[in-house]
Amino acid sequence: MEQQLKAMLIEARKALLEAGNEVDLHSIRVQYLGKKGRLTAIMKDMGKLTAEERPIIGAVANKVKDELASVFEQQLQTLKHQHLAERMEQERIDVTLPGRHQRIGTKHPITLITEELVEIFSYLGFSVAQGPEVEEDFYNFEALNLPKDHPARDMQDTFYITDNEVLRTHTSPVQIRSMLQHQPPLRIIAPGTVYRRDSDITHSPMFHQIEGFMVDEHITFGDLKGVLTAFITECFGKNVGVRFRPSFFPFTEPSAEVDIQCVICGGNGCRVCQNSGWLEILGSGMIDPEVFASVNYSSEKYSGFAFGMGLERIAMLKYGVNDLRLFFENDVRFLRQFCA
Ligand code: PHE
Repeated sequence: MEQQLKAMLIEARKALLEAGNEVDLHSIRVQYLGKKGRLTAIMKDMGKLTAEERPIIGAVANKVKDELASVFEQQLQTLKHQHLAERMEQERIDVTLPGRHQRIGTKHPITLITEELVEIFSYLGFSVAQGPEVEEDFYNFEALNLPKDHPARDMQDTFYITDNEVLRTHTSPVQIRSMLQHQPPLRIIAPGTVYRRDSDITHSPMFHQIEGFMVDEHITFGDLKGVLTAFITECFGKNVGVRFRPSFFPFTEPSAEVDIQCVICGGNGCRVCQNSGWLEILGSGMIDPEVFASVNYSSEKYSGFAFGMGLERIAMLKYGVNDLRLFFENDVRFLRQFCA
């Protein structure tokens, strides 16, 4: 029996050490040491042994068992290390490879100019209001003293949703909405998207405006000039010339368009300013008493001024962009140039 045990030890040790993976290793152990394994089979003849032989064989059997247990453990560790080494090799990360480039988006120039103008006007005490882009006839036209037969209501200029609803053609309806909601004093700017049926090199059917207005007791044309001049100096620099030119809007009286000295040629005359040396940048005026009447403000007590300007135009002049369409094409090569 001792011979049998020793032979088994040699065979089992060899088998364990040759196991190529953990599953095989476990099944080899069961094969030799398990309940129905080889060791049990050999030991079932214990009964036939003499009383002197029994403890000797018992001791040998235990030694075989211990020895195989330790070989098993040793091989298990070896296999585990091997597995880990293989994984490390396979999943190796090359830290010297250049990283994958993260493309960071940039703010659209219209967003940038909006933010800049909002900041300038907040220094002057104005706060931001917004209104809907699908607007009722009343706010877009009627309350702004644009009577039903006014040419600006012509189908050529306005996108109609229904007889009574339009895509707002300017940000001026926000004046009406704000004045109906609040009582003076008011100092509000309203940036936003506006729509007109117009499309060529210098017109887009969708563009952006910023509206501004101030209403209080004793507001004069001097306040209008002061605020707008302060804005222009802040936006285009101290030395740029400013000119107030008489104009007409149904919702302001008197009205003025504001020109700045051409930022391209410095006022000498060039193609951009059509040799006049001046560029028109905004419309403005004292709020018409008819407008106050439609929001139930007393024009005895209150007066105010309003202005509106196209943001694309301001952005073109400030950033030196010579084609309006660039703002809407979303070519990243163009947009990336406005990376802050
Ligand atoms: N709403 C006018 C336009 O779109 C601009 C404007 C606003 C003029 C406020 C005067 C006062 O052309």
